[in-house]
Amino acid sequence: MKVMIKSDYEAVSLAAARQIAALVREKPTAVLGLATGSTPLGTYRRLIRLHLEGLDLSRVRTFNLDEYLGIEMDLSKGYSQDQSYARFMHEEFFKHVNIPRNHINIPDGRAENPKEHCRRYEERIKEAGGIDLQLLGIGRVGHWAFNEPGSPLDSRTRIQPLARQTLDDNYDKFYKKAGIARKDMPHFAITMGVGTILQSRSILMLGTGAEKTDIVARALEGPVSTDVTASAIQIYTGRAVVILDRAAASSLKNIKPE
Ligand code: GLP
Repeated sequence: MKVMIKSDYEAVSLAAARQIAALVREKPTAVLGLATGSTPLGTYRRLIRLHLEGLDLSRVRTFNLDEYLGIEMDLSKGYSQDQSYARFMHEEFFKHVNIPRNHINIPDGRAENPKEHCRRYEERIKEAGGIDLQLLGIGRVGHWAFNEPGSPLDSRTRIQPLARQTLDDNYDKFYKKAGIARKDMPHFAITMGVGTILQSRSILMLGTGAEKTDIVARALEGPVSTDVTASAIQIYTGRAVVILDRAAASSLKNIKPE
């Protein structure tokens, strides 16, 4: 695992966007695994800038990590009110770049048969040739995507109840602002599994801000455990790059950045 420590959020975002852009230049048909949350937002903004400067994303295909279950995500509705990850991705990234709509895959939180949808999502990843680069943040419970504590490290795309800490964090960041009551936010999600993520050819994990300090240290230096599913990075056999800002890296004891 290569760990890079940058001065701040902006520097992390720039470095991450450059890594993704380098992959796309080398392999224009790259399959990107994408993440939501406040952490990768800056990376998307930087990628949009790189696109405006000429980076072509028209042959890229994407698979998002997760989506709330039971949430509106109809692409044709223009994402007016909803808090879906589909809307987040559209507003913050897809509508600004030239990835064709039919190259974009996001779990459908309104699928009629969510179990079958999860199975098909795994198949679609395989049909696309697997994920070349999976972008990841880390939640305060130590999760990747919505792989809450207790998720098996070989888990696949599935329905997952959300941990209380995750509900609190995501309520404060996204739902409260929209005037949605806490009880009305989705309590379940569709998430790629830890095993799905570990099959990606490379991982680009980001951690920023003091609120992530302790969990980043547990994930990268603590025991590999389903208690902190991002600790699976320690058993990952592909190419892993972790980019942290100084605040998030400040509890690391043994890892020396490259
Ligand atoms: C959610 C997402 C995760 C993300 C996490 C952290 O739970 N499912 O993929 O890593 O939030 O979000 P943030 O970057 O806003 O701290």
